[in-house]
Amino acid sequence: MDIAILTLFPDMFTGPFSESMLKRAQERGLLSIHLHNIRDYTHDKHHTADDTPFGGGQGMVMKPEPLFEAVKAALSDLGDRPNTPVILLTPQGRPFTQAIAQELSQHPAMVFICGHYEGMDARAEEALATDSISIGDYVLTGGEIPSMAIVDAVARLLPGVLGDDMSAVDDSFATGLLEGPTYTRPAEYRGESVPDVLLSGDHAAVDRWRREQSLRRTYERRPDLLESANLTAADRAYLEKLKAGEVEE
Ligand SMILES: C[S@@+](CC[C@H](N)C(=O)[O-])C[C@H]1O[C@@H](n2cnc3c(N)ncnc32)[C@H](O)[C@@H]1O
Repeated sequence: MDIAILTLFPDMFTGPFSESMLKRAQERGLLSIHLHNIRDYTHDKHHTADDTPFGGGQGMVMKPEPLFEAVKAALSDLGDRPNTPVILLTPQGRPFTQAIAQELSQHPAMVFICGHYEGMDARAEEALATDSISIGDYVLTGGEIPSMAIVDAVARLLPGVLGDDMSAVDDSFATGLLEGPTYTRPAEYRGESVPDVLLSGDHAAVDRWRREQSLRRTYERRPDLLESANLTAADRAYLEKLKAGEVEE
């Protein structure tokens, strides 16, 4: 997958993209990140990428000309592939979810535009972006951290990135539910033992326990997810018992 990121602060990406899974994904040729400094697409001697807002008011607004040029160059660099998403990071975009990460992971290439200051000129937003995404109902100083979060969530869904292609399958939200608790050695720590079933070697019983724990966690922490989750008759029966207080801790 090829990802172009347009930013005024390309150095912010050095750490997060040079460690762990994202580093390995790039080394193995599964992911290629193309950073474009928006300032490189300015033509005045001060490399001015922002200006004061028309009508007055606080802060600075990103100028449209460098953004148009930067998007054109980024798309060209990606081979001008048709239907390449150009995604604007904005707190006003559609809320980012695992389903959107899944959707984006199907594209071979995409472009992210990171806003900064008060955001960008509305003409650039309207003409350039094919999609706009928010990472939550709060306002950050720039789109850099949101784009890193989205790239991370998308990259780990690419075949081969996690090593074991199944490891994302049971993650929270992938199934519509939260993932249940996990344990590792030692089997007993500070007087607390791991559940016996996990040491039983009975794979069917472990699978059933994991499903029930996932249902329990979702019921306790994010009951809203149960409304749209794909539940079996056994899941519903377990939830009924849980609600009635008929399930042991
Ligand atoms: C200070 S914010 C601008 C907020 C804008 N004035 C508004 O009220 O909608 C600067 C930039 O940070 C990014 N940003 C801030 N919060 C974000 C969020 N929750 N999700 C995605 N991007 C965000 C956007 O790229 C935005 O253009």
